[in-house]
Amino acid sequence: MFDDLTMPPADKILSLMPIFRRDDRANKIDLGVGVYRDASGTTPIPRAVREAENRIHSAQTTKAYVGPAGDPVFCDLVGKLVFGEEAPWDRIRGIQTPGGAGALTVLAGLISVARPGAAVHVPDPTWVNHVSILEDNGLRVVTYPYLDTATGEVNFDALLDHVSRSQRGDVVLLHGCCHNPTGADPSPSQWLALAEVIAERGLVPLVDIAYQGFGDGLDEDAFVVRLLAGMVPEMLVSSSCSKNFGIYRERTGAAFILAANADQADIAKAQLIVRARTAYSMPPDHGAAIVRTVLEDPTLAADWRAELDGMRSNILSLRQGLAASFRRFTNGGDYDFLARNKGMFSLIGVTPQEAVMLRERYAIYMVEDGRINIAGLRASQIDAFGEAVLAVRDRR
Ligand code: LMR
Repeated sequence: MFDDLTMPPADKILSLMPIFRRDDRANKIDLGVGVYRDASGTTPIPRAVREAENRIHSAQTTKAYVGPAGDPVFCDLVGKLVFGEEAPWDRIRGIQTPGGAGALTVLAGLISVARPGAAVHVPDPTWVNHVSILEDNGLRVVTYPYLDTATGEVNFDALLDHVSRSQRGDVVLLHGCCHNPTGADPSPSQWLALAEVIAERGLVPLVDIAYQGFGDGLDEDAFVVRLLAGMVPEMLVSSSCSKNFGIYRERTGAAFILAANADQADIAKAQLIVRARTAYSMPPDHGAAIVRTVLEDPTLAADWRAELDGMRSNILSLRQGLAASFRRFTNGGDYDFLARNKGMFSLIGVTPQEAVMLRERYAIYMVEDGRINIAGLRASQIDAFGEAVLAVRDRR
């Protein structure tokens, strides 16, 4: 059976984790996988999450199955977080999933059942796993231009031009906030212009919102989801609780669909449940139970929001520190985009060979496309990082 199998290419993000662990240099810096880290370098468990776990531990009486759609209360609470209170709730349905990747998987499966081989337009670049998940479900991935590498901003004219020429019924994947890997997000007025084209051309948005709360705030980061929900008849949304609740390994997310009417929404949800049942039968419960416990208790929810605000402002100050450091070293503003980018990621503008050189010579780990997780930096490492990046670039 395995005779003809060949080794798949290494995952560009996850393959860094074991290499970093094995590296015994004291000055090593992990800017690879997208997890938040505090000033001591640990990925903290938020206080509210810890308390919720204690409550679940003492109150839980059974671990019997929850069901393929997960906990409906969790889905309502996360739905409100993403869509806000005022959404067209009669046409929205959601299911709990194993993380954002699980949500994307069942949504891709739903698209392929509804429209086999559909074209899904994804930004270039995008999260590497987007392409794998979509193609694995038989969908046709088409890329649209996204980044203006000269400015570090969204190349909005090129993006809009591409989307304006897409075929009615095509799916357009958007990063709801904190674009991965570029950190460049459209402005609210750009989102509005894009949403108008999507609505006008009868395209179906698939919004992946995995970093809600890390850009400008929980509500601000959901701007495009809420905007589109009021403008289009159909959309799909994948949401992750990994980052904003700090429960990465609990695999907690949700898949939502907005349909043209309530009956179609019920059918689409039933089809999503079939995708879940076929792929993993039922989602894990613990993370969703944590999220529900936090969001149902106003005191825990307020504490969680405060801690998330703190994470966001720490990332922002690292961004500002990094941009200032590059300004000092280069006497110019070429890296000012780092302070404007949103969320954990930015592209630092090195080649794959330079990324390897940074790892081998300076013990700085980043994805080979030059994606850095800003949250992996300590304030005390900023200058050393900037010097190393400029040193490898100077060799060009
Ligand atoms: C990342 O982009 O680093 C995270 O979303 C983790 C992952 O699964 O790739």
